Amino acid sequence: MRDGFYITSAIYYVNDVPHIGHTYEIVACDVLARYHRLAGERVWFLTGTDEHSQNVAKAAEERGLTPQAWTDQILPARREVFAQLLISYDDFIRTSEPRHVDGVQRFLSKLHEGDDVYLGTYEGPYCVSCEEFKAEAELVDGRCPIHLIPVEQLSEENYFFRLSRYQEPLLRLYQEAPEFVGPAVRRNEVVSFVQAGLRDLSISRAAAIWGVPIPWDPSHITYVWVDALLNYATAVGYGEEPERFASIWPADVHMIGKDITRFHAVIWPAMLMAAGVPLPERVFAHGFLTVGGEKMSKSRGTGIAPADLIQRFGVDGLRYAFLREFTFGQDGNFSVESLDARYTSELANGLGNLASRVLAMTDSYFDGLVPEPRSREPGGSLATGAAAMAARYDAGMRAIELHEAAAALDEFVRESNRFVVGVAPWVLAKDPARRQDLADGLYESLEALRLAALFASPIMPGAAERLWGQLGLEGRVIDAHLPDAGTWGGLQPGTPTRRGESLFPRLEE
Ligand code: ME8
Ligand code: MG
Repeated sequence: MRDGFYITSAIYYVNDVPHIGHTYEIVACDVLARYHRLAGERVWFLTGTDEHSQNVAKAAEERGLTPQAWTDQILPARREVFAQLLISYDDFIRTSEPRHVDGVQRFLSKLHEGDDVYLGTYEGPYCVSCEEFKAEAELVDGRCPIHLIPVEQLSEENYFFRLSRYQEPLLRLYQEAPEFVGPAVRRNEVVSFVQAGLRDLSISRAAAIWGVPIPWDPSHITYVWVDALLNYATAVGYGEEPERFASIWPADVHMIGKDITRFHAVIWPAMLMAAGVPLPERVFAHGFLTVGGEKMSKSRGTGIAPADLIQRFGVDGLRYAFLREFTFGQDGNFSVESLDARYTSELANGLGNLASRVLAMTDSYFDGLVPEPRSREPGGSLATGAAAMAARYDAGMRAIELHEAAAALDEFVRESNRFVVGVAPWVLAKDPARRQDLADGLYESLEALRLAALFASPIMPGAAERLWGQLGLEGRVIDAHLPDAGTWGGLQPGTPTRRGESLFPRLEE
């Protein structure tokens, strides 16, 4: 987006029951979207579902349903998981929607009018789970190296996209815009892949029944990956609403998992170049959540349902863990024990405890009203700590080092808890001569909590909103914006605070 922030997640295959590996990405996107909104930017956050897969068609057939009826039936469960996770998407696109189908057809016609599409014959292996044409050399005992299922041998007439032509333009892109693919490890892989030479891409399937018909030859269905990638453009009005499209496109970040990097960093920009559409700014490939070192997967019985973790840690605890436990961009090995420890030390004993003790003391010593400090200028140690947090947090978000943002918040909470211990209001409270010192110490602690709520809000929107309310602040934290709300001293003396339930209840054994 020219003067805003357009972020997309991958669009999800509808067949799978989402495990937490699938929700890791959408939570990361949501945190980024919420942070950019907090920073006052115009944000558009898109997610959706990739419905034209052959696996969907098969599953529907097994149930005696049309693919459309089957996807309609299973979609609400997916959206329900997103709602439970507090995902604040602005739009949800289904690739079976007319707005998408029309946009795909317009785009393909545009390619066809140029000289980038031809009719040829595809011969070779295809994995239906990847929905990808494979090279013989990649196969392991005749099976897909990722899904370990037998591949299909295809031999059919297909339309091809002259991807091979785009080798040089793509290499130039990676060179001139090094941020186009991140993290660096993925970028290096993509560069070597493209340097090795590109084969033309089959973009239609004659045998498929479920998908977008090729506009000039409806006996062919559009290859599902070409169809799926186009969601990012069709959802914001490509071809149908040129003004809207121009006001949102290009995407600032396409957030994806590392398994689908080539589609996004090679095929997608080449398609856009061929159609004369501006390129996205950035494709960022996160790692996998693994269990015992292997990609979490339902078929291998290692899929953990998000609901199970939400029950134990709350939605905020789960979202926090996603960001704080793993280095964003690398694989992360998931363990409930590790989450337990993290939750207890950083949320229950960290932010939760800070809030409950500071609010309890405000109640005891000042009848629950925010005390009047000597000064609200940012002179004290927590004001300095807050500024350092804000800078590190912002840098982490903008570099998509999301773990850095979470670490910055945690460090500030620790510093604030140490500050409270150092001030020891319970000692000051015994000495009437030190009443103003007590007011200063508590004001600083409450103001630290207000800033913690602000910066926690992209990561833990539920808990941050509750804390905002407990501090007696006006409105909702979701409507607050950093430059103004982010400055030290915003808390008004005399504000009635409202001690509430603990933000992060202790875990049951
Ligand atoms: O690939 N850990 O859809 P999908 C982290 N429809 N991320 C994971 C994961 C794990 N264990 N398992 C899956 C598709 N993901 C296509 C995308 S986009 C135009 C089309 C991520 O439902 C995966 O990497 O298989 C991908 O980014 C997303 O979940 C959707 O995967
Ligand atoms: Mg997948």
